[in-house]
Amino acid sequence: MSEKSRLPSKFLFYLITISLFLLISSSVFLLQYSNTSFTPSSVFKLILLNGTSVYFEPLLKSRQKNLLFLPSEVPLVDAGISTTISELGCENSNSSKKLESLGKKKTIACDSTQALLRVFMYELPSEFHFGLLDWKGKENQTWPNVKNPSHIPAYPGGLNLQHSIEYWLTLDLLSSSLPTVVRPCTVVRVHNSSQADVIFVPFFASLSYNRHSKLRGKEKVSVDKKLQEELVQYLMGRDEWKRKGGKDHLIVAHHPNSMLDARKKLGSAMFVLADFGRYPAEIANIEKDIIAPYRHLVMTVHSSKSASFNERPILLYFRGAIYRKDGGKVRQELYYLLKDEKDVYFTFGSVRGNGINKASQGMASSKFCLNLAGDTPSSNRLFDAIASHCVPVIISDEIELPFEDFLDYSQFCIFVHSADAIKKGYLLNLLRGIKQETWTKMWEKLKEVVHHFEYQYPSQPGDAVDMIWQAVAHKKTSIQFKFHRKKRYDRSTSDIRAK
Ligand SMILES: *[C@@H]1O[C@H](CO)[C@@H](O)[C@H](O)[C@H]1NC(C)=O
Ligand SMILES: *[C@@H]1O[C@H](CO)[C@@H](O)[C@H](O)[C@H]1NC(C)=O
Ligand SMILES: *[C@@H]1O[C@H](CO)[C@@H](O)[C@H](O)[C@H]1NC(C)=O
Ligand SMILES: *[C@@H]1O[C@H](CO)[C@@H](O)[C@H](O)[C@H]1NC(C)=O
Repeated sequence: MSEKSRLPSKFLFYLITISLFLLISSSVFLLQYSNTSFTPSSVFKLILLNGTSVYFEPLLKSRQKNLLFLPSEVPLVDAGISTTISELGCENSNSSKKLESLGKKKTIACDSTQALLRVFMYELPSEFHFGLLDWKGKENQTWPNVKNPSHIPAYPGGLNLQHSIEYWLTLDLLSSSLPTVVRPCTVVRVHNSSQADVIFVPFFASLSYNRHSKLRGKEKVSVDKKLQEELVQYLMGRDEWKRKGGKDHLIVAHHPNSMLDARKKLGSAMFVLADFGRYPAEIANIEKDIIAPYRHLVMTVHSSKSASFNERPILLYFRGAIYRKDGGKVRQELYYLLKDEKDVYFTFGSVRGNGINKASQGMASSKFCLNLAGDTPSSNRLFDAIASHCVPVIISDEIELPFEDFLDYSQFCIFVHSADAIKKGYLLNLLRGIKQETWTKMWEKLKEVVHHFEYQYPSQPGDAVDMIWQAVAHKKTSIQFKFHRKKRYDRSTSDIRAK
C-alpha cells in the first residue's frame, strides 16, 4: 500500500473518533442538565466512562438547599467540596451566592420531601443502643432526648471511640425532626417505613462487641452474641425486611469483629464498615457497602496552628505494635530498615493513657506519617495523621478508603506498594525526594479535607456523618436500579389478564 492511501484512512479514523466523542459528550451534557433527579445515577454510570461529575449533581443541589438552614455562626469552610465541584466545572458553585443565603437561623425541621435520603429507624429496645451506654429512659422511652446535648449519654472514650460511628449516625437521625437543631438536611427520619429509602438498624454493634463479647459470671452466651441473635430474629420477622430481602437496610458494624455471628444472616443489608479485611466478598463488598472513617483519637490541629514543612523536624512517624500477624509482616521488615535513621521515629505500644497526647505531638511534628497494614487493612492511624495534617504514607495493598468516589486521596496521601516499601532505601529515597513545594500542596489539601473526617453532634455539612449519608444515598439509587430490573417479569400473567 502506498503512503497516499494510508493517510486518508487514518484521517477518517480520527474523524469518526472525534465525532463519536462529541456525540457522546453532548448527549451526556443534555442528560445532566435535564431532569436528573428522576434518573438513577447508575444509568449515568453506564453511559459515562467516568461518572464522577454525574455523581456530584444531586449532592450539589442538596447542599445548596441545606445552606438555607445554616445560621450565620456556623463557619462555612466547605473548601473540600467546593474545590472539587469547581474542578469538575460545575457553574452552580458560586460561593458568594451561598453566603447570601446564610442570614437566617433555622426554625423549621428539615422537609422530608426535599431531603436526599429518607430513613426509617426501628424502635429497637434500648438494650440494643443507648442502654449499652448505661442509659435508662422513663417507662416506654426508647430514645434519649437529644434536644439538649448535655442530656445525651456519652460514648466511652479511649479506643472505644474510634468505632463510635453507630452513635453519631443514630443521634443525627434522632435530631433530624427537631427544628431547633441546626444540621444539614441530607437525611430525614420518617416514621412510616413505606416512605423511607433506607431502613436503619440502630444496634450499637461495636460497643456491644467491645463491652460484652466476653462471658461474665455464669453466662453461657455473651451479651453480644445474645443481642445479635435477637436482632436477627427481630429483623426476619419484620415486613420491612421481607419487602426487599433486607437490601435497603443499613447496619453499622465498624469494629472488624462486631456482628461476627449475625453478619452471614444479614449479609444482604448495606453495612457501614472500617474495611473488608474480615469479610468474605459475598457478605461485604464495595458495591453495596460503605467504608466509614475511624473516629480519630488525636486532637485535630487547628489550621492556623499547623506546623509547616520546616517546622516539622521528623521526616517519618510511626506508632503501633511492630509484630503483627497476617498482612502486618511488612511492619517488621520496615522496622529493621528504618530503625537507625535519625529523622525517622518509630514508637511502640498502644495509645492508652498518655499515648494519645504523645502521638498528637509526634504526628503534628512530622512531615509524613506511616500507615501500615496490621491485623486489618485499615486503622485509625490514617485518620489521626489527617487530623494532624501529617501527610499519610499508606502501605496497605488491600486498603479501602472512605468516600473515595468523592475524594482523590492521591492529592494528600502517598501510596507505596508493600513489595516496594521493603526494598532497601526505597521508602526514604522516595520521601526525601519530595520537595517542600509538593509537600506543602498536600498539606494544604489535608487542611481542606480534614472536616470530612470529623464526627460531631449536631452534624455539619460535609462532616463524616453527612458524608456517610451521602454515600448511602448514592448506593440507594443503585439498589433501586437493581430492584426495579429484577421486578420486570414479576407480574404473573393472570394478574395482567384480570385487568
Ligand atoms: C476519571 O477522572 C479522574 C479524575 O479526573 C481521572 O484521573 C481518571 O483517569 C478518569 N477515568 C477515566 C476512565 O476516564
Ligand atoms: C458569583 O456571583 C456573583 C454575584 O451573583 C458575581 O459577582 C461573581 O462574579 C460570581 N463568581 C463566579 C466565580 O462566578
Ligand atoms: C407503656 O406501654 C404500655 C403498653 O403499651 C402501656 O400499657 C403503659 O400505659 C405505657 N406506660 C406509659 C407511662 O405510657
Ligand atoms: C404509609 O405510607 C404509605 C405510602 O405513602 C401509605 O399508603 C400508608 O397509609 C402510610 N401509613 C400510615 C400509617 O400513615
